Amino acid sequence: MADNNKNPHECPDTGHEWDGIRELTNPPPRWWTIALYLSGLLVLVYFILYPSLPLVTGNTKGILGWTQIKEYKEDLAKIEEKRAPFEDRIAAMTAEEILEDDELLRYAVGSSKVLYGDNCAACHGVGGYPQPGSGYPILANDDWLYGGTVSKIIETLAKGRQGMMPAHANLLTEEEVDGLVEFVVNSANGEATDAQWKLYNEKGCVACHGADAKGIQQLGSANLADKVWRFSGEPDEIRHTILHGVNDANDPLTRVAVMPAWNERLAVRLEAEEFGDDPEDYYDGTETERLSENEIKKLAIYVHQLGGGE
Ligand code: HEC
Ligand code: HEC
Repeated sequence: MADNNKNPHECPDTGHEWDGIRELTNPPPRWWTIALYLSGLLVLVYFILYPSLPLVTGNTKGILGWTQIKEYKEDLAKIEEKRAPFEDRIAAMTAEEILEDDELLRYAVGSSKVLYGDNCAACHGVGGYPQPGSGYPILANDDWLYGGTVSKIIETLAKGRQGMMPAHANLLTEEEVDGLVEFVVNSANGEATDAQWKLYNEKGCVACHGADAKGIQQLGSANLADKVWRFSGEPDEIRHTILHGVNDANDPLTRVAVMPAWNERLAVRLEAEEFGDDPEDYYDGTETERLSENEIKKLAIYVHQLGGGE
């Protein structure tokens, strides 16, 4: 039979017994006792080195002077030190040059993901695909309102965009509106009739959407000759756009489509440079800079790389 005696040295018991289990008076194992005292010592060491006791205002600081914020700032400084040479090169090069440089391109795209998520994704969606019907343009296709070269994208980001189409409710008869809705639907399929083209030309749509109805990038007017919809391809929605326009301040039912400006100072400088002027003459001191020039450059490259860059 197995030896079930759990008290081979016959250690005296305390007299406590429950259901045949006796409490003995032998000491705990030595290793356990050592560990107990060591852990007490460890507490004391930490207590002295690190912030510990909460006081009425603040807390004891510990002799190392360690704080979480300090550690975070040191880590951040290390990351920035690593990034600095890249950021310097980005600042010194044009976006076109960066597109040709594999290493910098990878850095620009990689470091833009967070920027894009924080500033752009709320409207333009993850990866440049907004919610269908949200009215925000897709950035991942090659259908551009304002142009898909990296320098055009920089201009768009810097100064913001707000395309304008006037409400036509008071300019057209019921029949003309019907005809133009049909024109837009047919044009998307390449099937507009001569009579419909005539109406399109006569009613002035041509001035903004162009002789081929493919849009004019200087105006940011939508391409009406493809199946990519800025707002919607549903006849009722097309009718709404024609009747109430886009960003027409005089029509409360107008469609609203505003791209915020991210660096007005850069926008002003780009404009001055275009005319060969000194930007200092253009600044009026109110220009905002919500994103830095480097951030704009990196984001423009990121958008360009999403798939539709020209
Ligand atoms: C508040 C919503 C909003 C935010 C935030 C926003 N955009 Fe836009 N964006 C728009 C709208 C609306 C348009 C279309 C403007 C128009 O129709 O004139 C637009 C247009 C654009 C265009 C032009 C597309 C074309 O077809 O030419 C680009 C590029 C762009 N946005 C990139 C960005 C980037 C990058 C960010 C982040 C820094 C951003 N947007 C943040 C609303 C937004
Ligand atoms: C003053 C310029 C201007 C005129 C005139 C104009 N449009 Fe527009 N239209 C625009 C702009 C700009 C946009 C795009 C707005 C935006 O994306 O922010 C637009 C957008 C549209 C859209 C939305 C397309 C889509 O993809 O959802 C339709 C449809 C349209 N226009 C039809 C017409 C028709 C039909 C006429 C003639 C009655 C007309 N437009 C006259 C400037 C104009």
